[in-house]
Amino acid sequence: MSMYPLRRNRRLRTSEVVRSLVRETIMSPNDFLVPLFVVEGKGVKEEIASMPNYYRFSLDLLEKEVKELWKMGLKSVLLFVKVPDNLKDNSGTEALNAEGLMQRAIKTVKNATPEMLVMTDVALDPYSSFGHDGVVADGKIINDDTTAILAEMSLSHAKAGADFLAPSDMMDGRIFEIRSLLEDEGFHDTGIMSYSAKYASAFYGPFRDALDSAPGFGDKKTYQMDPANREEAIRETLMDIEEGADIVMVKPGLCYLDIVRDIKEAVHVPVAVYQVSGEYAMIKAASEKGWLDHDAVMMEQLTAIKRAGANMIASYFAKDAVKLLS
Ligand code: PBG
Repeated sequence: MSMYPLRRNRRLRTSEVVRSLVRETIMSPNDFLVPLFVVEGKGVKEEIASMPNYYRFSLDLLEKEVKELWKMGLKSVLLFVKVPDNLKDNSGTEALNAEGLMQRAIKTVKNATPEMLVMTDVALDPYSSFGHDGVVADGKIINDDTTAILAEMSLSHAKAGADFLAPSDMMDGRIFEIRSLLEDEGFHDTGIMSYSAKYASAFYGPFRDALDSAPGFGDKKTYQMDPANREEAIRETLMDIEEGADIVMVKPGLCYLDIVRDIKEAVHVPVAVYQVSGEYAMIKAASEKGWLDHDAVMMEQLTAIKRAGANMIASYFAKDAVKLLS
């Protein structure tokens, strides 16, 4: 039974005023986590070749950057460090250094902007001479040796002042190991945002350029998920919640919005989505060629991610988007 012409859907689209009245998804600065790449040195602001207009900062310029973010209403950052080659080994020794770059970066951000929520990447790949997220033996990534180190690494970040640990490694049981150690050591309020459904994606290429962290042999398919799988994403996510994750994540974003929706319906904790480096690079490249409208495509993709069910989005577009919103 069609009610046409009594029901005309276009009535609710006749002007921007009515469209904004009935809009279901509204973006705001509160939606974003800002990924930041940190390097050693002074006065360093290096553009990442495959991520136009995105930079690695030394600590002094990181300080400036987070002050600017805070003024713009961006109140959460996700820190990554680029570790010098001579400090890399198989077990991520440098990751536990209380005076390491990550630990100093956490303190730098907290000093510059005390209320900024500081989240830190927890995984061995930036520290690994093999470029893998875990300890390697006989060409394999050893799960339980790795989770023990990740727990120590997390504790070290918590001691330096991190608010949330963000394990991005996809080892089994690491959330339990990390949560248990944090509880034992009295860090009851330090949260965990777990990369729970992280796929073995080719969209991470530019990020690996940014940190010089590409795997030296093989790929990450024995720990990151097969892009063909859906049920496994829900299973991974439910397990991480049982183990103590406060926030769960789906990564990458755009190609996985069906997973975002399924997980949003399956869980009762906040869901983060990571719009990854390759997604950023694609929009930059196509718009540099004049083939796509950068700002329009950016906002459309971010809105789609939120509409799918994201409670927050880690995005290299955070600043660009907030500028447009204001
Ligand atoms: C590594 C890590 C990766 C990203 C975040 N943490 C890359 C990888 O798994 O190889 C990717 C982020 C991006 O592409 O923007 N633990």
